[in-house]
Amino acid sequence: MIRVDLENAKLNEQLADYAESVKKAHRDLHERTGKGSDFLGWVDWPINYDKEEFRRIIELKDRMKGRYDTVLVCGIGGSYLGARAAIEMINGLYPDNGIETIFIGNTFSHTYVSQVLNHIKDREVVLNVISKSGTTTETSISFRIFKQFMEEKYGDEAKDRIFATTDKARGTLKQLADRMGYETFVIPDDIGGRYSVSTAVGLLPLALSGIDIEELMKGSLKAHEELNDENVLTNPAYQYAVARRILDKAGYSAEYFITYHLQLNMIAEWWKQLFGESEGKDGKGILPTSACFSTDLHSIGQFNQEGTKTEFETVFYVDDMPLDIVFPDDEENLDNMNYLSGKKLSWVNEMAFEGTLSAHSEEGNNPNIVIHLENNSAFAFGYMIYFFFLACGMTCYLLDVNPFNQPGVEVYKKKMFRLLGKNV
Ligand code: PA5
Repeated sequence: MIRVDLENAKLNEQLADYAESVKKAHRDLHERTGKGSDFLGWVDWPINYDKEEFRRIIELKDRMKGRYDTVLVCGIGGSYLGARAAIEMINGLYPDNGIETIFIGNTFSHTYVSQVLNHIKDREVVLNVISKSGTTTETSISFRIFKQFMEEKYGDEAKDRIFATTDKARGTLKQLADRMGYETFVIPDDIGGRYSVSTAVGLLPLALSGIDIEELMKGSLKAHEELNDENVLTNPAYQYAVARRILDKAGYSAEYFITYHLQLNMIAEWWKQLFGESEGKDGKGILPTSACFSTDLHSIGQFNQEGTKTEFETVFYVDDMPLDIVFPDDEENLDNMNYLSGKKLSWVNEMAFEGTLSAHSEEGNNPNIVIHLENNSAFAFGYMIYFFFLACGMTCYLLDVNPFNQPGVEVYKKKMFRLLGKNV
């Protein structure tokens, strides 16, 4: 399902040097003996997930069928990025199932909130608010505004259209949801936000958006089986983790996550959060950034080719994206484009990938790792998230940082709360 190609980055030879440290970190991940081990619930989640809650999610989706055309997902960071990444990767940017999923609660932008309110006023709406802590300011502000919208629009029925995903017992959101009579779903104690997309955090919005969540869980289970392998020479997740470490040590301080489809832009955002929040601490870590080619070859591509050599590229290449178009012939050929007549756009995109790989790695001296994912199905998504969780856990343990906390995020909050006049 996933293949990591290190040929262009010329890193294969060095993998074996890390064999012993990878084995140790593998055991720390699986036996919960490493840093932040209270948050390793995601490791066996594909087997241990709550089947009863999973059934409730499917029931809810079936019960609401035909009663909505808009899903509002209210959350920030790990409480929305995974769901958005999945929906865009699997359904595309303009899905034809008649359901629009809109993400709120991830910004203070007053113009955005105002426009969403206007956009949905005549829609049939369901709302899923998601917050592990239950107190995140961006989410709480939006939730109050959209809760009132729902109550004005639906009266008593609003409580049957609002669902809360939060801690199983604690927190303001849990208390509010119980008091209002909303159906609630649980974010497990031992799974942090950015590792939570295959819990109710992602599964409920995905199910409501028409995605087959059973397939997603099967994909994660397959990854759990196949990637439970301590050998860096055979485990692609660990090959990627070690490649990052080698490049970091060699002085490459930034990593571009490159995709070739606009509908994968949110995968890049999800990946940036996963690696940025997990690794960037104690004055360590690789800066995670991203670009979508060929679009961004016309912007940042110049820098990648000829700018300072501090970054490497990780190309996330999905081998088979089924929707395709054959380029039409034109008798007059006024645009001189007939040399491509009859070719598929997927082939053109593939040639852009191969040409850029060669330009950046061979002539630009820019190490390129290529991660091939078979396709953009729900199963493949489920497999891929587990691959990146594992790679991220490994890369952080090799760097000796705790992958599961984010102490730095609190600093802006404290300063903002003081300015907002919140009692803290
Ligand atoms: O990965 C994380 O833990 C964070 O990005 C959180 O998901 C984010 O801060 C939102 O937190 P909460 O779910 O408590 O509202």
